[in-house]
Amino acid sequence: MDKIKVGIINVTGYAGVELARLLHQHPEVELASVTGRSAAGQSLSEVFPHLAGIDLTIKTKLGDVGLVFSAMPHKESAVEIIPLLEKGIKVVDISADFRLKDGSEYQRWYGFSHPAPQLLAQAVYGLPELHRAKIASAQLVANPGCYPTGAILALAPAVKAKLVVPDIIVDSKSGVSGAGRTLSLTTHYSEANEDVSAYALEGHRHLPEITQELKLLNPELPPAVTFVPHLIPMTRGILTTAYAPLASGKKGIEEIRKLYLDFYKDEPFVRVADSPPHTKQTWGSNLCLVYPTVDQRTGKLVVISAIDNLVKGAAGQAIQNMNLMLGLPEETGLEAPAIYP
Ligand SMILES: NC(=O)c1ccc[n+]([C@@H]2O[C@H](COP(=O)([O-])OP(=O)(O)OC[C@H]3O[C@@H](n4cnc5c(N)ncnc54)[C@H](OP(=O)(O)O)[C@@H]3O)[C@@H](O)[C@H]2O)c1
Repeated sequence: MDKIKVGIINVTGYAGVELARLLHQHPEVELASVTGRSAAGQSLSEVFPHLAGIDLTIKTKLGDVGLVFSAMPHKESAVEIIPLLEKGIKVVDISADFRLKDGSEYQRWYGFSHPAPQLLAQAVYGLPELHRAKIASAQLVANPGCYPTGAILALAPAVKAKLVVPDIIVDSKSGVSGAGRTLSLTTHYSEANEDVSAYALEGHRHLPEITQELKLLNPELPPAVTFVPHLIPMTRGILTTAYAPLASGKKGIEEIRKLYLDFYKDEPFVRVADSPPHTKQTWGSNLCLVYPTVDQRTGKLVVISAIDNLVKGAAGQAIQNMNLMLGLPEETGLEAPAIYP
């Protein structure tokens, strides 16, 4: 049987090029077409020598494919995707353009008026651990943001079980590839190296996504979330530490671990770790490691999660979603363990 042809819009960014690397190893699909404005006309391997095994020329327009990944910046992504949807093509959007259900939130958080708010209800939030069945029948999947992936997976079992009261703190540290390949002073080597800083204290764009999904898990208890992201000098990875007061009379460490183990027992890409996870244990893999514990002195749940922002936080999760949309086993092409050291 012929392999299903897939394409990547914007292979020249970090999320796009990581998709190309992972799709090259996928046994059931063929990466048949890639676009990228700055490198149009060049071969993929010329621009990215680590992809020397892929014989493709970067174009300005996609060729004929059955499923498209858009790895465009937000706002631009929707413009590319809308005509594809009209043609009946399946799409996984790695940008934020279809993640939020409330169209008015785009003006507030992203500074643009959404061009197709009617599509927001149809788009499925692509976190398979929460929305697997809907993803399988979706035409448009909105791949979650990198920070929300780590934060939601850290908190979902506790919020669903009403284990915590809604005063949640999410403290995340991201490597610099989270800011993309476009050059900026913030991610310049001499600025970012040997430095750690918090940013977006007035409210990061990923906050509405985190609260939207936690609210769905427990609609009676709208979560109040303080989210503070940090930039740290490593290339890949997000470590999240989430804190929330335990509801009174709730559970000790062993019961909470059991709740997490039960919640994730059938999940191929979430593992409840035996010790606090390191980002390096997820490097290059689609794994999210989660470690729940309790601060006995303050009665707070503390959950640590680790992901690779470019894999479970972007390209790997997008392929996990594609597998579901195409009726393939969810792990296909994503089985490789993390790289160590
Ligand atoms: N990095 C992550 O960890 C991560 C995780 C989850 C989701 N995402 C999302 O994935 C998408 C891509 O992110 P990224 O990190 O891969 O970004 P990136 O590395 O900065 O890539 C962005 C690329 O987009 C192209 N571009 C910029 N403005 C454009 C425009 N107006 N029209 C067409 N192309 C434009 C540029 O490529 P050319 O120079 O070739 O035009 C640029 O290199 C974003 O929506 C981001 O939010 C990223």
